[in-house]
Amino acid sequence: MDYIDLRSDTVTKPTPEMREAMAEAEVGDDVFGDDPTVNHLEELAAEMLGKEAALFVPSGTMGNLIALLVHCQRGDEVIVGNQSHVYLNEAGGMSALGGIQPCPVQNQPDGTLALDDISASIRTEDVHHPITRLICLENTQNICGGVPLTPEHTQRVGELARANNLFLHIDGARVFNAAAAQNISARELVEPADSVMFCLSKGLASPIGSMVVGTRKFISRARHIRKMLGGGMRQVGIVAAAGIISLEKMTKRLGEDHARAKKMANGLRQVKGLDVDADSPYTNMVYLNVSEDVKINSNRIGERMKELGVLVDADNTRRLRLVTHYWIDDAAVEKAVSAFREVLN
Ligand SMILES: Cc1ncc(COP(=O)(O)O)c(C=O)c1O
Repeated sequence: MDYIDLRSDTVTKPTPEMREAMAEAEVGDDVFGDDPTVNHLEELAAEMLGKEAALFVPSGTMGNLIALLVHCQRGDEVIVGNQSHVYLNEAGGMSALGGIQPCPVQNQPDGTLALDDISASIRTEDVHHPITRLICLENTQNICGGVPLTPEHTQRVGELARANNLFLHIDGARVFNAAAAQNISARELVEPADSVMFCLSKGLASPIGSMVVGTRKFISRARHIRKMLGGGMRQVGIVAAAGIISLEKMTKRLGEDHARAKKMANGLRQVKGLDVDADSPYTNMVYLNVSEDVKINSNRIGERMKELGVLVDADNTRRLRLVTHYWIDDAAVEKAVSAFREVLN
């Protein structure tokens, strides 16, 4: 059965054009710097993000970890959102592998970190204190609703970082969604950042891969750390070929996913038993709650939806996140809304 899969944009399978490009990709040993397709992807990514250089990495988690390991020494501290992926969902890699301590600051409902909270978290020079080295922002901020951070906020955090001799890293797993939603270029959005990680494997539909961008010096160190982590890949142009299509084509169509998320949210607002968040969606994620008066539990809702051909990520909470992506068309949106109606009635 061909399911309508709303669990995440990570479920996107490569497009037929990607599969063709992958089959025909020119390849070489990328650890030797010999893979022309990877080299092309890296140049393209650096150019689109307005940074000097880029590095192709297997995953967003490894990309964030590499960036943190380049910026920080053991015992340093990183200011992170308390709802951020790097803090909650990367298996504690920064601490386990880098000896880096996260300093969580509350994410505001709009995904931002309050400047006063950041300032208050920067350590003073004292032999007892860790050294604050880095601030991490996440754009779009996933748990806060897939909300895009504005260029103004990013600019202000960048200024604060520079004034305090700190680096700024952006976990931009979905930075092209953030840019599309605000009608600006990704380059403009990340201008104040020293480094950015973004994913090809989410809404951009590549099967594998993320990019880290920054200065030439930063990327040269990042390349070394990628090898250390076992992320040096060989004839990986076969995957980078899909990444080039992600950047050249998929970045231009994300508005369609956002429009479909809106359409789905509007449809679900008419379904009794569902409370779609007031401002949802900001990008490609619809967040909602199953009302307290609905007696069937979320797991059962997930099972019933699956029987009707729709996959949703239903855990034991009443909170649901539905994500649109390349493989969700208008008919899929309509089918998902009617499946919810049927299950909840
Ligand atoms: C905001 C954010 N950052 C980083 C990642 C990590 O990416 P990966 O799953 O490729 O390791 C994810 C994955 O979903 C994410 O949502």
